[in-house]
Amino acid sequence: MTVFLEDFAMELASIGLIGLGTMGAALALNIAEKGHRIAVWNRTGAVTIQFFDGAGDLAANLVPTDSLQALVAAIKPPRAIILMVPAGQAVDDQIALLRPLMGKDDLIIDAGNANFQDTERRAAAAEAVGVPFLGIGVSGGEEGARHGPSIMGGGPREAWERVAPVLQSIAALHGQTPCATWMGPRGAGHFVKTVHNGIEYADMQMIAEVYGVMRDGLGLGALQIAAVLDGWNQGTLRSYLIEISGAVARATDPVSGAAMLDVILDAAGQKGTGRWTAIEAQHLAAPVPVIEAAVMARNVSSRLAERRAGEAAFGAGPQPLTLDLCDLESAMIAGKILCYAQGFAMLAAASETYGWGVPLPECAKVWRAGCIIRSDMLDHMSAALTEDPARNLILAPAFTAHLRAHHGALRKVVAASALAGHAMPALSAGLAWFDLMRTARGTANMIQAQRDFFGAHGFDRLDGNPGKHGPWGAH
Ligand code: 6PG
Repeated sequence: MTVFLEDFAMELASIGLIGLGTMGAALALNIAEKGHRIAVWNRTGAVTIQFFDGAGDLAANLVPTDSLQALVAAIKPPRAIILMVPAGQAVDDQIALLRPLMGKDDLIIDAGNANFQDTERRAAAAEAVGVPFLGIGVSGGEEGARHGPSIMGGGPREAWERVAPVLQSIAALHGQTPCATWMGPRGAGHFVKTVHNGIEYADMQMIAEVYGVMRDGLGLGALQIAAVLDGWNQGTLRSYLIEISGAVARATDPVSGAAMLDVILDAAGQKGTGRWTAIEAQHLAAPVPVIEAAVMARNVSSRLAERRAGEAAFGAGPQPLTLDLCDLESAMIAGKILCYAQGFAMLAAASETYGWGVPLPECAKVWRAGCIIRSDMLDHMSAALTEDPARNLILAPAFTAHLRAHHGALRKVVAASALAGHAMPALSAGLAWFDLMRTARGTANMIQAQRDFFGAHGFDRLDGNPGKHGPWGAH
């Protein structure tokens, strides 16, 4: 049966939600299930009806509405309304329609995958007229939204505190701790989510790289690869992404009967969050080469025709090779640490530049459950960042020990792969960064000399003697 607001005894909802797409619907059901009465509205009314009709017992906590006015009227003031609409212009359009209907204390929460620069702009606009606005990153896909996402909040602290009880009640739990945390003002929450996604791209790419070595270099079939990944998931690499990679490697295509992985086109899609991370890292001069390599590799993967022409011109890249599976596992451990060290350093740089004060240990903690990059290692990372948030993760004793133990294998895997023609953009980018980071006397003296030669840019000397220019003369 379909019911709309006018049919309800007016028990007001404690929160509202706009946008009943996959994520919005899942989040609304999660909120209803945790005992909060929630009013919902969708631009296409039929979607609201369908959602309500399919909500089963949870319908008792849902208030479906057929207009924005009805939505606002259905919520207890001061109101809080979550937007789950596509990132970009749709959010601005929705805010423009909603704000005039709301009171000065009413809160709009953008829970989509917004570009943090948009959130900064929207937050500034809201501040200018004295109305509250939050931008929150929500991770965990549909399953997470429905049963426990990881939530990264950004905006005025008091606005966060107002809705924190609801958000914490729907979030994933790590032990007894809800993974829903305030990351700082304005765009901080969406920024943390963006870096999460950059790391997500990098984690996925590194797994794809070792999968490629197992498939094309070691000649393992999908089921054998699944068994290797399942094994890794019992050790240091235990994580959601390793777990699901094992599961996808084990799956069979119902159409052809072949391994599912073997029938999927090798061209990766992307909505852009990984790219935003790479772009912002460049603005901040905060190196995240593993993430950049992952974005690059997705872009190259989509250039199918060129790759086919490349193979015709140069011969197939990946050749059989010999490597121990435990070296592959070690390489993944090292690569993962290097990638996260870069991601956290980038977060620190952004936090300083934008004045957010993002608590890095909290950030590691909020990623421990619910989100796509959840892993056991994040527990140790949060401990290391708690000890000293300013220290690069590779210099935290626990991770220094890991890298000492595993970087040799990373080197072996990258070298063997290079010789046998296996592309390893992410793992090799991690290794190159690591080698730069452990070289006290680097090679930028050559760059400085070149700059001085052609542009008289000057340089500092090692010996403290005066003089900032070389004896280049006129050439
Ligand atoms: C999450 C995911 C989710 C989504 C991204 C990535 O944390 O739940 O990151 O937000 O999967 O949109 O998608 P693309 O791979 O399409 O960029």
